[in-house]
Amino acid sequence: MNGIPHDGLQMINMETLEDIKKEILNCKKCQLHLTKTKYVPGVGNKEARIVFVGEAPGREEDLKGEPFVGSAGKLLTELLSSIGLKRDDIYICNVLKCRPPNNRDPLPEEVKVCGDYLIRQLNVLKPDLIVCLGRHSASFIFDLFAIPFTSISRVCGKVFEAEKWNKKVKILPLYHPAAVLYRPQLREDYERQFKSLGEIIGRESKQKTLFDY
Ligand code: URA
Repeated sequence: MNGIPHDGLQMINMETLEDIKKEILNCKKCQLHLTKTKYVPGVGNKEARIVFVGEAPGREEDLKGEPFVGSAGKLLTELLSSIGLKRDDIYICNVLKCRPPNNRDPLPEEVKVCGDYLIRQLNVLKPDLIVCLGRHSASFIFDLFAIPFTSISRVCGKVFEAEKWNKKVKILPLYHPAAVLYRPQLREDYERQFKSLGEIIGRESKQKTLFDY
């Protein structure tokens, strides 16, 4: 980290997303670096006010080094565009930066060590809104903001608010798009939840907060 101590004053966080990416691209903190093809640090707008957080790279992401480029990513991109957002408007990353073999669930030790990169990315971006895709992402972000997490089906589509970075931050947990592909009966609700997300963004931009795309 490039913190600059200054006469006993608070450390200034000068870290950038590029610094974090460089570290991720050399990471050997867990075994996943041995089985991955490419590291998947995250992509998007470095000034983004909205960050989407998924679980971990899948097969396509592992090959390309970019999050959400497979079938779940296509659905995500389509729903973003339905509310007027392009991938370039937001930042997209995952809790894990390497693909777990056969897309198994992340292990708690992996989440612990790799989640530190996500925390640092969020501390640089300081978003106004974090959209959690799926239960692993939601439970990590809820923990980070000290909000009790029950289950994704209970919280999904509800907006939570917390204080961080000296401002109010909104957290919106949603189902993972892969879950919606797997269970098409969730699709209608999912589209409705994206519509509400569009309304939140529209409302906030009218109130002249930072959602001004
Ligand atoms: N699923 C995720 O959680 N993240 C990706 O990047 C792709 C699929």
